[in-house]
Amino acid sequence: CNVVVLISGSGSNLQALIDSQAEDNPARIRAVISNRADAFGLTRAQDAGIPTAVLDHKAFDGRDSFDAALMEVIDEHAPDLVILAGFMRILTPGFVRHYQGRLLNIHPSLLPKYKGLDTHRRALEAGDSEHGCSVHFVTEELDGGPVAIQAALAVEPGENIEQLTQRVHAAEHQIYPLAMRWFAEGRLRLAEQGAMLDDVNL
Ligand code: GRF
Repeated sequence: CNVVVLISGSGSNLQALIDSQAEDNPARIRAVISNRADAFGLTRAQDAGIPTAVLDHKAFDGRDSFDAALMEVIDEHAPDLVILAGFMRILTPGFVRHYQGRLLNIHPSLLPKYKGLDTHRRALEAGDSEHGCSVHFVTEELDGGPVAIQAALAVEPGENIEQLTQRVHAAEHQIYPLAMRWFAEGRLRLAEQGAMLDDVNL
């Protein structure tokens, strides 16, 4: 299963995916693409011997031309799966359709709660007793595609935003490699009713 990972920043999720390859994950990350030249995730990829590319969205005159160029770079690697790992760009419907059923994202909330930004602050302000993260297939609705796996954490009394953010981030690093593995093994797919898991033994 050929995987291309898109990033914009630190790439700690990318690192978790890379590390899982050294264990029993059959997925193979063939390239890492960033829209920012200073993304630390590029260094992580290079350290792991994975080819990288930078495509600066500011060099394009709009989302359509950026996404068209991005698709070209991605498709050079013939991916079975494209993984968004902290890729901070909204993708066009054309892009999303092109990768339908093979495009995953991770979002730091228990979807459908808290789509969009600032999820940890919103969960704390709402006094939620539970918070977490979700891996989902990407559809045209922002953070609205079918969920494949979630990790839920109990919010601890008096916990501050840094602590909660850090714990959710650690949970992301657990579930994203799992979703990548399930997809590579043909057990996770996007069906008409939503995300489906076939025959999963943990
Ligand atoms: C994560 O919080 C993820 O949920 C969100 O972007 C962040 C990426 O973090 N989509 P990192 O670059 O993987 O450390």
